[in-house]
Amino acid sequence: MNITFNINGKQQSIEITDENTPLLWVVRDVLNLKGTKFGCGKAACGACTLHVDGQAIRSCSYAVKFVEGKNVTTIEGLGTPENPHPVQQAWIDEIVPQCGYCQTGFIMATAALLNKVPNPTDEDIDNNIINVCRCGTYYRMRKAIHLAAKLNTPEISSEIQNS
Ligand code: FES
Ligand code: FES
Repeated sequence: MNITFNINGKQQSIEITDENTPLLWVVRDVLNLKGTKFGCGKAACGACTLHVDGQAIRSCSYAVKFVEGKNVTTIEGLGTPENPHPVQQAWIDEIVPQCGYCQTGFIMATAALLNKVPNPTDEDIDNNIINVCRCGTYYRMRKAIHLAAKLNTPEISSEIQNS
């Protein structure tokens, strides 16, 4: 069958034999976007998190048939090195990653959270960002999420940049 969707701003049509193929397989192996990672394969760790119509989903356990006509965003489409997304900028500023394997999933989950809750409390973060990091970068991630919330607010962002 043929599935047509938008990924990182570009229309994409793929031919697939099994419509229940996980979206992660398509993103990595068909579209060659390797920033989204495979961890547990059971919707538990969050390494494979990306956005479908702005919602964070776990692409290892999300059939590709569900993206027909939708907008998919992966880490490659979130920001660019020249113009990083506020979450990516905060991750750089707080030097969050250790091995880095889990970080794409956390960044995508955080970007989706800030769209719903622009200024999350520690409790909001604990309730919503439930990905797993084997290196234990949680403390720096929490700091980065609070910074990203500030960078996401244009007036505060310019204050930070001018200070
Ligand atoms: S690889 Fe998808 S949640 Fe772990
Ligand atoms: S930075 Fe290594 S698993 Fe999270």
